[in-house]
Amino acid sequence: MQSCFQICITAVWLSVSVHSGRSIFKEQQGQFPLTSHFLFQSPLGRAQAAKNKGNKYFKAGKYELAIQCYTEAISLCPPEKNLDLSTFYQNRAAAYEQLQKWTEVAQDCTKAVELNPKYVKALFRRAKAHEKLDNKKECLEDVTAVCILEAFQNQQSMLLADKVLKLLGKEKAKEKYKNREPLMPSPQFIKSYFSSFTDDIISQPLLKGEKSDEDKDKEGEASEVKENSGYLRAKQYMEEENYDKIISESTKEIEAKGKYMAEALLLRATFYLLIGNASAAKPDLDQVISMEDANVKLRANALIKRGSMYMQQQQPAMSTQDFNMAAGIDPQNADVYHHRGQLKILLDQIEEAVEDFDECIRLRPNSALAQAQKCFALYRQAYTGSNALTVQAAMKGFEDVIKKFPKCAEGYALYAQALTDQQQFGKADEMYDKCIDLEPDNATTYVHKGLLQLQWKQDLDKGLELISKAIEIDNKCDFAYETMGTIEVQRGNLDKAIEMFNKAINLAKSEMEMAHLYSLCDAAYAQTEVAKKYGLKPPTL
Ligand SMILES: *[C@@H]1O[C@H](CO)[C@@H](O)[C@H](O)[C@H]1NC(C)=O
Ligand SMILES: *[C@@H]1O[C@H](CO)[C@@H](O)[C@H](O)[C@H]1NC(C)=O
Repeated sequence: MQSCFQICITAVWLSVSVHSGRSIFKEQQGQFPLTSHFLFQSPLGRAQAAKNKGNKYFKAGKYELAIQCYTEAISLCPPEKNLDLSTFYQNRAAAYEQLQKWTEVAQDCTKAVELNPKYVKALFRRAKAHEKLDNKKECLEDVTAVCILEAFQNQQSMLLADKVLKLLGKEKAKEKYKNREPLMPSPQFIKSYFSSFTDDIISQPLLKGEKSDEDKDKEGEASEVKENSGYLRAKQYMEEENYDKIISESTKEIEAKGKYMAEALLLRATFYLLIGNASAAKPDLDQVISMEDANVKLRANALIKRGSMYMQQQQPAMSTQDFNMAAGIDPQNADVYHHRGQLKILLDQIEEAVEDFDECIRLRPNSALAQAQKCFALYRQAYTGSNALTVQAAMKGFEDVIKKFPKCAEGYALYAQALTDQQQFGKADEMYDKCIDLEPDNATTYVHKGLLQLQWKQDLDKGLELISKAIEIDNKCDFAYETMGTIEVQRGNLDKAIEMFNKAINLAKSEMEMAHLYSLCDAAYAQTEVAKKYGLKPPTL
């Protein structure tokens, strides 16, 4: 029941309103009449009545009328009633949303949030409006605040955060990638890349290249040819690990239409790929592939590389097509099956991957890499099928591979991943140590070993120490910076995390990788903004 005091106030207020010509007490369009004791309510009560009427219109799909009622509620509401007023704005925003008036939605949500800063509904509605208005940065901030307020429990807001982070990452990477300086990877990386091809002319040492085919009987001419051939000079630089000169020397061979034209095109394309310039690599690869009288090994190699490039660009159908064509023109080429097997693993076509690795092993029985990767494929298959017996058999397979090929670092590395998966952390750690013994220069192994310390012993210091070691070995190891950034986010050191992500961004080897890193960086940045604005912080380790 209302007190006399309230009724008196209402009466006074009513007379003022009438004289000032406000129309709020007139019935609008004769629908949903206000209750008869309307006049005896407090201003807040009347505002709420207007809101309730608005809600009825809203449910009936009459959004314009609902908006009028909410507007009325807003003007009736005493300004000190923050929470009520914020609700009225939020409700009006919901009606504007139905009419796709995104600017109005954002404006009303802003009012609602000003009155009630942790108003999840209003923040999320504004996030969606900003998405529609293509204000990605604003959208991200709002949805980040929502996620934190909901303790990352709501699927809907998490999905929107994910979506906008991906869009932002893609957009920024596209811009940045266009203008970046070409970046030559470390010599370890380049050597490891070439070691994944064995049926490959351009990666073979110079002498064999020179003596191949018709050159065999004319060794006397070799030195003269070398001086004139950009390709042979490029090969020389490759042996000297002077990688920066390879593209320009190959270009000379191509421009002179020299006898190593196809080789030079393939070599140049390979280095374009290594420096992360897929758009420059593509026409060269296309040309080699179309040279029907070129050595089939060159064409198959170009197809493998173009296929892998398509995979990186998330075009699996084009990728598969290239690998199949490679197998068609050069069916005895073990590299084709080895690389196609890796593609099939990425596509989760495990059975086909195993078939390809088997074919590779049949053609090249001492290929340790293919054997190790086959084990990994079998492990994945067993693990996803949750079949304990086949998991055991796959683990036994790894033991056999490392016994048979004790010098193959990849064997230990893949085994370590499977062991980590099986929570056999101690043994996984031993396997990483073997990798490090064999390839002390491989920074990636230290990162994996560091991550293992976190998972196994929650030992942050040891983990970070190992990742720092990775950076010491190879200061271009983007994986190390990325991992360090992720750990810093979890510890709540957002500024440090952003610094690490930015380092990784500058080292990214492809536009897609860069987009992913931008997403991580933007997520961290949005969290710092939300922390400043609302004093909200996500949970930390
Ligand atoms: C790729 O190479 C082409 C040709 O050399 C050049 O015009 C372009 O700017 C390069 N793009 C990137 C992303 O490095
Ligand atoms: C480093 O080791 C990983 C396995 O842990 C392997 O996949 C990668 O090719 C190696 N990289 C280099 C640069 O040797």
